[in-house]
Amino acid sequence: MYQIYPRAFADTDGDGIGDLPGVTASLDHLAGPPDSLGVDAIWLSPFYPHGGVDGGYDVTDFTAVAPEFGSLTDVDRLLAASHERGVRVLLDLITGHTSDRHPWFAAARASRANASRDWYLWADPRPGTAPPTNWVAAFGGPAWTLDPGSEQFFHHTFYPEQPDLNWRNAAVREEMANAMRFWLDRGVDGFRVDAIEFLIKDRRLRDNPPAGPPLPPWAPEPGGLRRRWTRNQPGLAGVLRHLRRVADEYPDRVLVGELYASASQVAAALGGIRGDGLHLALDHQLAKSAWDAKAFRRAIGAAERHLAPPLSPTWAFSNHDLSRHATRWGAERARLAALILLTLRGTVCLYQGEEIGMTDLVPAPGPGRDGAMRDRAGRDPARGPFDWDEAARQRSDHQSLLAFYRGLVELRRRSPALRHGTLSLLRRLPPGVLGYERHFETEKLTVLANMSHRRTVIRLPSGQANTQLMATDVDQVHPTGSKVELEADHGVVVVG
Ligand code: GLC
Ligand code: MG
Repeated sequence: MYQIYPRAFADTDGDGIGDLPGVTASLDHLAGPPDSLGVDAIWLSPFYPHGGVDGGYDVTDFTAVAPEFGSLTDVDRLLAASHERGVRVLLDLITGHTSDRHPWFAAARASRANASRDWYLWADPRPGTAPPTNWVAAFGGPAWTLDPGSEQFFHHTFYPEQPDLNWRNAAVREEMANAMRFWLDRGVDGFRVDAIEFLIKDRRLRDNPPAGPPLPPWAPEPGGLRRRWTRNQPGLAGVLRHLRRVADEYPDRVLVGELYASASQVAAALGGIRGDGLHLALDHQLAKSAWDAKAFRRAIGAAERHLAPPLSPTWAFSNHDLSRHATRWGAERARLAALILLTLRGTVCLYQGEEIGMTDLVPAPGPGRDGAMRDRAGRDPARGPFDWDEAARQRSDHQSLLAFYRGLVELRRRSPALRHGTLSLLRRLPPGVLGYERHFETEKLTVLANMSHRRTVIRLPSGQANTQLMATDVDQVHPTGSKVELEADHGVVVVG
C-alpha cells in the first residue's frame, strides 16, 4: 500500500497545490510500467472540503471534494485509471470528529434542545468555569472548549476546531455509514480509518491519572497524564464491528485502522481471533522505535505473539504525521530500512517520497501560496512536495533507492515466503544485528540486517553457502561459505 498526501503529491493546474488529476497523471510512477514501483493499493489522505486547520483532517463535508483537489468526476477518473492497472484505492475516513464548521456542529451548537446536540460530546463546566475533566488534547491544551452560547464545553481529542463526534449516538453511526456507502458505491476499495483508539471516551468523564513510569515510545501521552479514560475504551470494539459490517455490505473491501498502540491493542482492533473488527490496523511500533536491533526485535516479536495468523500486522515507517524516517534514522540507512520493511510479515504501507529517499523539508517562512496550511503541531516538514525531478532521475538509475524499492516490491510479490510465510526471529546473532526467517512450504528465506555501526560477521543459520536474493549493496555484503560479512547499515536476503 502507498500513502498519498494529495496536497503535496502532484499539481496539474499550477495553483501550487497537489490535486486529484495529479494523482491520476502520476500513476505510472506507482504501478503499470515495468519501471514503476509496483504497488497494489493507494491510500489517499483526505481531499474533502475542510476547515483549513488540520491538513484536511477537519472535514466540513464527508461526501464531496474540496475545489483545490478537483471534483467528484476526478475521483471517478482516478478510480477507473487505478483499477485499470489493478491498483486498489482507499480513502481516509475521519470518524472521530468533524470540523467546527461542519453543518452538523453548527446545528448541535445552536441550542441545547437541538435534535443533533447529542451528536457531539457536551458537558457542563465544573464549579466555576473549569473544564469538565482534566483531559488534554493531542497537540496540547485542554481537550474541552467552552461554547459561550450554551455555557457547555465540547470535547475535542485534537484541535479545538475539531469537535469529537459521539459514537454512542445511533444517528452518528448511521450518518457515517452513509458516508462510507457513498464512496463504496462509487467503487472505492476501502478506507484508512483515522485515529480509531479515541472513538469512545469514558461515559462517566473520569479524570485521567498522572502518567507514572515512562511509557513506551509509541504511546505518547500529552500533558503528563495517562489516557486511561480517553483511548481504547470499552465500547470501541462495537464501533469497529459496526464499520466492518458496513464494509461487508460490499464485496472485497478493506478497512485499515490507524492507531498508536501495543500489538495486543492492535489485535483487539481487528476483533481478536473472531476477526470481526477492522481487517487491518497500522502498527506504529517500529515507526516510533529507535534505530536499534533490540527494539526492532521486540516490536516484531510482539506482533508475532499478538497478531499470529490469521491476523497480521500492517507496518509503516513514515507518514504525514511523523518526521520522515530518512531524517529520523538517517539517510544512509534508507536502503536497509526498506529491506527490513518490505520483508516483514503482513501488509506494508509506504509513504510518498520514501522510495526516493526524501527527508524532512523545512517549509519556507510566510503563508506560502497555500496560505491556510501551516500545521500548528509542526508536521509540515514531512509534507513537503514530492520531488518529481529526483524520481525521474532515479527511475533510469539501476543503483538508485527507487530501483531498490522496486526490486523489493517485486521480490515480495513473487516470493510465497514473503507473501504468506511465517516469520521467526533468529537468536544468537551478533549485537546490533536483526535477523529473521520467512518460511512457506518449501521456500525459506533469511533476512539479515546489520543495524550497528560496525562491520560484522554472521554465521548463516542453515550453515551452508546461500544464494543472495537481495542486498542493500553487493559491494558491502560479502558471503563466504557459511558466513556473511555485512558492513554497517547493510543487509541481505538469502535463500535457505
Ligand atoms: C490522524 C491523522 C492526523 C490528524 C489526526 C486528527 O492521526 O493522521 O494527521 O491530525 O488524525 O484527525
Ligand atoms: Mg493544483
